[in-house]
Amino acid sequence: MKKNPIVFLATDHTSINGRIESMLKKNKWLDPLVVATVDLDAALEKSRPALIILTENFDICKRLKTSESSKDIPILILLFDADLEKEARHAQADRCWEYVPTELDGLYNLIIQLLPKGRKKILVADDEEIVQDVICRALDTEKYDIIKACNGVEAVEKILEYKPDLVLLDINMPEKNGIEVCQEIKQDPENSDIHIIFVSARTEENVIEKGFDVGADDYLTKPFRLEELVSKIDLVFSGMIWERKEKVLIVDDSSIVRSMLYNGISQQGFKVITACDGEEGLKEAIEEKPDIIISDVEMPKMNGYEFCKAVRGRDDLKEIPFLMLTSRDTRGARALGIRAGVNTYLSKPFQVDRIVVIIERFLSEKRKKFEQEREVMIASIAALAKALDERDRYTRYHSQNVSDYSVEIAKKLNLSNNEIEQIRLSGIVHDIGKIGICDAILLKPGPLTQEEFLVIQEHPVKGASILRPIPSLKPIIPFIQYHHERIDGRGYPSGLAGDNIPLGARIIGVADTYDALTTDRPYRKGKTPAEALEIMVKCKGSQFCEVCLPPMIEVLKEQGKI
Ligand SMILES: [Fe+2]
Repeated sequence: MKKNPIVFLATDHTSINGRIESMLKKNKWLDPLVVATVDLDAALEKSRPALIILTENFDICKRLKTSESSKDIPILILLFDADLEKEARHAQADRCWEYVPTELDGLYNLIIQLLPKGRKKILVADDEEIVQDVICRALDTEKYDIIKACNGVEAVEKILEYKPDLVLLDINMPEKNGIEVCQEIKQDPENSDIHIIFVSARTEENVIEKGFDVGADDYLTKPFRLEELVSKIDLVFSGMIWERKEKVLIVDDSSIVRSMLYNGISQQGFKVITACDGEEGLKEAIEEKPDIIISDVEMPKMNGYEFCKAVRGRDDLKEIPFLMLTSRDTRGARALGIRAGVNTYLSKPFQVDRIVVIIERFLSEKRKKFEQEREVMIASIAALAKALDERDRYTRYHSQNVSDYSVEIAKKLNLSNNEIEQIRLSGIVHDIGKIGICDAILLKPGPLTQEEFLVIQEHPVKGASILRPIPSLKPIIPFIQYHHERIDGRGYPSGLAGDNIPLGARIIGVADTYDALTTDRPYRKGKTPAEALEIMVKCKGSQFCEVCLPPMIEVLKEQGKI
C-alpha cells in the first residue's frame, strides 16, 4: 500500500500548527502530524516524514540536518522576522517563509513544492484510439508515465502489472466495461489507493451513480475540455483546484443546504452564487446569467416551480439548465416540475460530488450544442464565402487558397492548434464583406476609379460586422477587419501599424496578396510565384510583416513553387 506523505508540524505554536494542519487536511493525499519539538526524535523513530515544519528553532534544524538519519528530510522554517533568513540558511533549512496568518495560500504551494514528487503513473483505458490520443497529448509527459489500454481486460491486466497512481477509465469498452474494471480493481484492498476517474460519454444519472458506487473518485462526461481533465488530475495529485469560469446559482431557503452546496461546488472551482428564495434567485439570475441553476422546491415568496417558470419565460435565461432539489420525489411533483421546465430532479438527501457530476454533464451538453451550432454557422458562412468566390471565375479558389497558405504560415510560426484553427477559418471568410459589393465594381475588367476603390475598401469592416453576431467567431473578427492594414500604417480601414495589427491579420495579408498576385485577371496575367515573391520581398517591412513573409517563402519552397 502506498502511504500519503506525512508532514511534521513542529512549530510549538498551537495556533500555527492548528492553521497549517487544517489547511493540509483539506488535501486528502497529505497526512499532517503535530509534534512537539521535544518529541521530535521519538517521532522520527516511529515514522519518516516527507517534510518537517519548524519556526525559528535554528539549533534543532541544524541538528537534524547534520544527523545521518534525518539529513535528507526537507525542513521548512517559518520566520516571524524576515531578517532571520540568513540564520535559517545557515542552519541548512531547505526553505524559509515569512509567516503571515492571513497569507496561507503561498505557504501551501511551497509545502506542496517541497514534497517529494516522483513520477506518477497514469493508465488511459479507452477503446477509441482518437480519445486515447487526445488525452495522452494533454497530459504532461514530464510529470507522468502514461500507459495505454484499449479494452477492459487489457486495462485490468495493466493495472495489476503497473499499479498506476491514476486510471482514466472509459465505460463502454469491449470485453469488459469500465464499471466492471473499477469494481474488480477496487475489490482488492491492495489496489484501493489507485484513483479512478471515469471519462465517459454515458451521461445517464444511474450510470454516473453506479460509477461512484463501484468506487470511482470522479466522473467526467464526454465531450470534456482538456483543461477540465488536467485540473481533475491536478486535484487528485496535488489538491490544486482549477478555477472555472462557469457560474452556478443555488437557490434554497435552508442555510444548511446552501452552505453545503456552496462548499462542495466551489471546491470544484466553480463560481457559486446563492439566493434564499425564488424571488431573490430570479434577481440574481438576471444579473449574473449563471450557467446552471439548482433550486429547492418549497421556498417562501416564490417557490421552485414559479421560479423555474419565470426563468423559462425570459429570453435571456430560458436556455439555462434548471436542476430541482426535492425531498418529495413523487410522480406528481415530477410532472409539475416538467411542466415548469425543470431539466432534472435531484433527490434529498444528496451527495455533493454526484451533484457536481450532474452539473458537469449539463455543461458538457451545453458545450456540445454550442459546438454543433458553431459548426452549422461556420458551414453556412463557408458556403457564402464559396458563393462569393464563384461570382468571379478568376477568384474561384481564392478563399480556400488564402486559408491554406495562412495555415501553413501559422504552423511555421508555431502557433497553437487553436490559433491555427482560427486562422484557417479566417482565411475562408476574410473577404466575406465583399458580398454586398455590386458586380459592376467587383467584377470590373479593368482598373478601378477612386470612388470604386473606396467602395472596395469597405469590405473588411463589412465582413467584421457580418460575423460579429456569432459569439464563437469573436476571436477572428480582428483578423477579418484588419487584413488590409500595412506594417507602415498606410493600409485600410484603420491605418494600424506594426504589431498593432493582429498577427492573424498580418498572416492573412501575406497569403491574400500572394494569391491575388499569382491569379490571372481579365486585364492581366497572373505573375509567377518567383515574380510575386520578388514584389512582396521588396515591400517587406513596409507593406508586409517581417515575421510572416519568411515562413511564406519557406512554404513555397517546400511546395516546389520557387
Ligand atoms: Fe480582402
